[in-house]
Amino acid sequence: MSRPIVVETVSALREQIRDWRLEGLGIAMVPTMGALHDGHISLVRMALASAERCVVSIFVNPAQFAPTEDLDKYPRQLARDLDRLAEAGAHLAFTPGVAEMYPTDFATRISVGGPSSGLESEFRPSFFDGVATVVAKLFLQAAPDHAIFGEKDYQQLCVVRQLCRDLDLPVDIIGAPTVRDAHGLAMSSRNAYLDEKGLAVARQFNVVLRRTAAALAAGADEAGATAEARQALIEAGFQKVDYVAARESLTLAPWRRDREGRLLAAAWLGTTRLIDNLEIPASM
Ligand code: PAF
Repeated sequence: MSRPIVVETVSALREQIRDWRLEGLGIAMVPTMGALHDGHISLVRMALASAERCVVSIFVNPAQFAPTEDLDKYPRQLARDLDRLAEAGAHLAFTPGVAEMYPTDFATRISVGGPSSGLESEFRPSFFDGVATVVAKLFLQAAPDHAIFGEKDYQQLCVVRQLCRDLDLPVDIIGAPTVRDAHGLAMSSRNAYLDEKGLAVARQFNVVLRRTAAALAAGADEAGATAEARQALIEAGFQKVDYVAARESLTLAPWRRDREGRLLAAAWLGTTRLIDNLEIPASM
């Protein structure tokens, strides 16, 4: 098991990437905020299957957190993350500090329209600007051929695809299926905030969404089915539901039954906000 090379600066990252390019090696990137779980490791495996070298960035990006959000308490466990990356066979971990990514005179913000509107943006208005800005920087720094993003953050995946299309960033974006525990709970770094009781409630999230997606596929009225889902989540023990919404898979425009659909939701368990989404199966 070889350890990944760890670099903290953009110049050291570029130097290593340049050496690999001179050897004719392809690069796949997995952008992360660390606290790596099996979902991230599945992204690393997909990266390794798509290119000779896998670069994983670990950077808790302050630009995507609102002042009221969990930036300070977001789990940081670099030593453990590096062990997991070594086991998985990643070649390089890019672990910049905030000053490396955002020097004091940093003054640029990228704002993607289209799929970023609504859903998460309604509740986290500057979130996707923060994501788009850091992802564009990471792509310009590492210049990967491919980048892997989990479908768990489905709207983020759509926004990153739009970003690359609009800015002609030559990076092939690969979406990876959500990794779930034995109860169907989507892997998330924020699951670490939950105790056993919280986990038991969180595991109802996918159960409710699965039932709702099946009902929609079977012809249920959209407003009725999503309202029922919100009620079911509250009854399961969630304190607040931000949204349960059916959207077109590709554009995230309002869902039409003749188009591929995605059911997306966000809900609160105490101070922990969880998101999940599922494909709406083709009409039965
Ligand atoms: O999904 C995440 O972990 C983050 O939003 C990302 C893509 C690494 C950007 O900070």
